[in-house]
Amino acid sequence: MFGYRHAFHAGNHADVIKHGVYAFVLNYLQQKPGALEIIDTHAGAGLYELDSAQAQQTQEWRQGIGTLPWPAEHWPQLLQPLAELLTHINPEQLLRYPGSPWVALHSLRPQDSLLLCEWQQAERRLLQEQCAHPGVRSVQQDGLELLSAIHAKDRVRQLLLVDPSYELKTDYQQLPQALAKAVKRSNTACIIIWYPVLSNRDCRPFVKALAQASGHNAKTLHLQHLPQPGAQGMQGSGLWVVNPPWVLAEAIDQAMPWLNQCMGAGIGKWSLETSP
Ligand SMILES: C[S@@+](CC[C@H](N)C(=O)[O-])C[C@H]1O[C@@H](n2cnc3c(N)ncnc32)[C@H](O)[C@@H]1O
Repeated sequence: MFGYRHAFHAGNHADVIKHGVYAFVLNYLQQKPGALEIIDTHAGAGLYELDSAQAQQTQEWRQGIGTLPWPAEHWPQLLQPLAELLTHINPEQLLRYPGSPWVALHSLRPQDSLLLCEWQQAERRLLQEQCAHPGVRSVQQDGLELLSAIHAKDRVRQLLLVDPSYELKTDYQQLPQALAKAVKRSNTACIIIWYPVLSNRDCRPFVKALAQASGHNAKTLHLQHLPQPGAQGMQGSGLWVVNPPWVLAEAIDQAMPWLNQCMGAGIGKWSLETSP
């Protein structure tokens, strides 16, 4: 049913923004001792080799993580947690790139839990091998069903990453529907949603649907980055965040000129909106 393999795309410009923000939010939430429930609804395989046949075929990482200075020193504050993880898994050369499961696994504390959801059997098998840890559970389930079924728990904060491959165009309708249910059931969960900006699809109706699904009173943040405006295919990506930590907008604002210079080669564009 699905042909998407994240190994072809790992470390591309969209991953750098997504994982930079995800790692920053995790780091911020883990500054408090209370338990954190982390749910990754579309987890992928977990960890990627940048010299694998798949990565070699597309070379997408060269326009993403490959454009940032290495070793990862003097990166902006937003990217510090990701830089720390990258340095940990690449003591010398940049050869490995963490998927979102590894971003969360790296900072998991005994009081936290990590639920990884992946629909494809082959990807899930890799995920289980790469993320074997007592605090981690993986399931083969529809990630959007999981999102719509979350519920608030006493004294446990929640962080969700929702990162579909959008192979099914129905994801564009079903994701806002699932989000609307999720925010009703758990109105304090921090939910990070990724979407692609494609040359052949107007993403504005989807963003509008996300805004409606989040509810009028919800705090939201919308970041869009187009490192390759006007290019055919994926020009960039967006992040829609419900209940962002208050420090996130400022950190993004500081980091984006630097990131855009690296990955957007002087022609990239970005925008950041927060509400209320
Ligand atoms: C963009 S990739 C995930 C990348 C990963 N979140 C990361 O940042 O490293 C999307 C993944 O979702 C999986 N997938 C597609 N439809 C799904 C569904 N309905 N439920 C759960 N996983 C799904 C795909 O097999 C693919 O591995």
